[in-house]
Amino acid sequence: MTESVTITDNRTGESVEVPIVNGGVDASAWKKLMPGTWFLDPGFSVTASTASEITDLDGGNGILRYRGYAIEDLAENSSFLEVCYLLLNGELPTQAQHDTWVHDITFHTYIHENMRRRFYEGFHYDAHPMGMLVSAIAALSTFYPEAKDVRDPENRYRQINRLISKVPTLAAMAYRNTIGMPFVYPDNSLSYGANFLSMMWKVAEPDYEASPVLAKAIDTLFILHADHEQNCSTTAMRVIGSSLADPYSAAAGATAALYGPRHGGANEAVIHMLNDIGSYDNIPAFIESVKAGKQRLMGFGHRVYKAYDPRARIVKNHADEVFKVTGRNHLIDIALKLEEIALEDEYFKSRNLYPNVDFYTGLIYQAMNFPLDMFTVLFAIGRMPGWLSHWQESVEAEARISRPRQVYTGLPERKYVPIDQRV
Ligand code: ACO
Repeated sequence: MTESVTITDNRTGESVEVPIVNGGVDASAWKKLMPGTWFLDPGFSVTASTASEITDLDGGNGILRYRGYAIEDLAENSSFLEVCYLLLNGELPTQAQHDTWVHDITFHTYIHENMRRRFYEGFHYDAHPMGMLVSAIAALSTFYPEAKDVRDPENRYRQINRLISKVPTLAAMAYRNTIGMPFVYPDNSLSYGANFLSMMWKVAEPDYEASPVLAKAIDTLFILHADHEQNCSTTAMRVIGSSLADPYSAAAGATAALYGPRHGGANEAVIHMLNDIGSYDNIPAFIESVKAGKQRLMGFGHRVYKAYDPRARIVKNHADEVFKVTGRNHLIDIALKLEEIALEDEYFKSRNLYPNVDFYTGLIYQAMNFPLDMFTVLFAIGRMPGWLSHWQESVEAEARISRPRQVYTGLPERKYVPIDQRV
């Protein structure tokens, strides 16, 4: 039997039956039945903005799959660049495809010298690296004007390749700029993660050797962040892309959306919160203030997950391996205690509030010496292939321009009042 819903307009008695397909109903049936009556859904809680084949997220059961592969399986067995390929192409690469892909990414890591000398040096010394990254990604579009030709698949491939290759370079450059250290050029003999760590930390040594444990950890963290279907920043990417803007401009918009503390900025907010709590003794008072609505337990809750975020579990399990190399981050004890209390407390249980990916990532980044304001930048590097996969999918599908409607609640028409007659 076909599953369906029937919508009746009680003003006219007219009905329309709409089939439920893949868990959704086609809103165009509603449009035909009741033109000019809009669904009011601020924050898009019940609106699917697109159909997509990329990422399957079952928030009720805590399941996340990229192109059908479980996130746990990919985190355990794959590499970030392989996952990028999977997200963009729908299949894991063969060895030959893998080698070509890794080569192409590895040899596009350099950026135009004007970006470093003229652009980055123009920022104020205390500029936030996310602000620099947003601007730098947008500025890349001026270096690659051919990127505007978004309908050409070969051209798209080149820009996708450049964005994945260059974002770690831009990110590390933003960091070096804030601390007044000379920029470290990419080392194309290194893996994606190890090259990023080299650009971040290299000082005077001829060859910087990243700890293999830390290079692997950063690679795994990038995998966990690589995509998360229609989140705030990916939606921004698709919306901007729907106007057929070039991918650098769209990715700059997505990066800006990620910046906020309700999205990618939450990992930074978690560390501020744990520092403010400071010790075990202060945890009960903190929990009470959260329950009284005075503040939020950062790193908890999610629009879609109503179960434990599988990414948070993987990060938590990796923390000890990283701490063996870096030394233990003492804030982990406060975080573990908060989680233990929250998972037992009625306030959090009744609202299905569980740790999200940001609850533990900040602790690992901090142990690896990343300053707080770089945390969201790391997220942006990881999320780039997800943004680009969605952009590509939407351009290939010739998606219509995104243009939602509104329910107007302002004043009716009134006459203009000259300034000398206003009271
Ligand atoms: N701490 C305390 N209470 C919370 C929290 C939290 N972290 N999150 C939600 N709630 C409560 C709300 O107060 C609300 O309670 P009420 O029904 O009594 O009013 C209820 O749970 C539902 O919350 P909403 O704000 O409606 O949930 P929404 O889906 O809009 O927000 C969000 C999701 C923004 C992630 C929210 O849970 C939050 O602010 N969390 C903290 C920030 C955070 O960790 N963000 C990272 C998200 S993951 C990512 O972007 C990578």
